[in-house]
Amino acid sequence: MSCSAHGGGMKVNGSTILEGERIVLVPYKREHVPRYHEWMQSAELLEQTASERLTLEQEYDMQRSWFQDENNCMAGDVNLFLNDNKLDIAEIEVMIAEPSCRRNGFGREALLTMMNYGANHLGIKKYEAKIGCGNKASLSLFHKLGFVETSYSDVFNEWTLQLNVTEGIQEWLAEATNHVSVHNYPFRPRNTTPSDH
Ligand SMILES: CC(C)(COP(=O)(O)OP(=O)(O)OC[C@H]1O[C@@H](n2cnc3c(N)ncnc32)[C@H](O)[C@@H]1OP(=O)(O)O)[C@@H](O)C(=O)NCCC(=O)NCCS
Repeated sequence: MSCSAHGGGMKVNGSTILEGERIVLVPYKREHVPRYHEWMQSAELLEQTASERLTLEQEYDMQRSWFQDENNCMAGDVNLFLNDNKLDIAEIEVMIAEPSCRRNGFGREALLTMMNYGANHLGIKKYEAKIGCGNKASLSLFHKLGFVETSYSDVFNEWTLQLNVTEGIQEWLAEATNHVSVHNYPFRPRNTTPSDH
């Protein structure tokens, strides 16, 4: 899975890899763009993630604007959006794009891993997620992680959910992700062989 934490052109974790039990979070690099672009041809995914359809060139531009540089087992992505003016609040989003990869706990582990990184390494004090009101899977996932609805937009037909990162939540995140190891990119995860690449 690819991951990123960014705000206003600020690259936070451009070379960090977080390896969990079921997932490995790697930075969103140029080589990931074609697969990502292929996923984002799905009208359903565009709607569920409130995304615009981009051309491949626009997708490369987007990737460049995030990381200014440049997997075969890519399943989706998880992102943190940091606000330059309020560094302690972050919007978080997740997508398990490959339908065959869903319901394996990837979404949950990716979120927990990213949330722990944000809370315990970047000082995030509040998470926010925007979820379409019909997206039962995502609402259920975020509810299970303790997020609660704080407002509703009629225009976008979506809920805003928030989670305050109390000391208790910080400890819970650290505990839930104590199996996660940190590496530098590039890195070959445990379960791959050279022929996978
Ligand atoms: C929502 C999404 C991220 C869930 O990822 P996932 O890896 O399949 O979810 P997990 O296996 O980690 O499941 C964790 C919890 O999410 C909820 N969930 C996941 N899929 C669900 C589904 N199809 N129906 C209802 N609940 C679901 C459940 O509460 C589940 O807990 P459980 O296994 O104890 O029942 C994934 O379906 C997805 O990316 N969908 C398309 C894009 C999208 O909607 N992104 C979110 C935008 S806000």
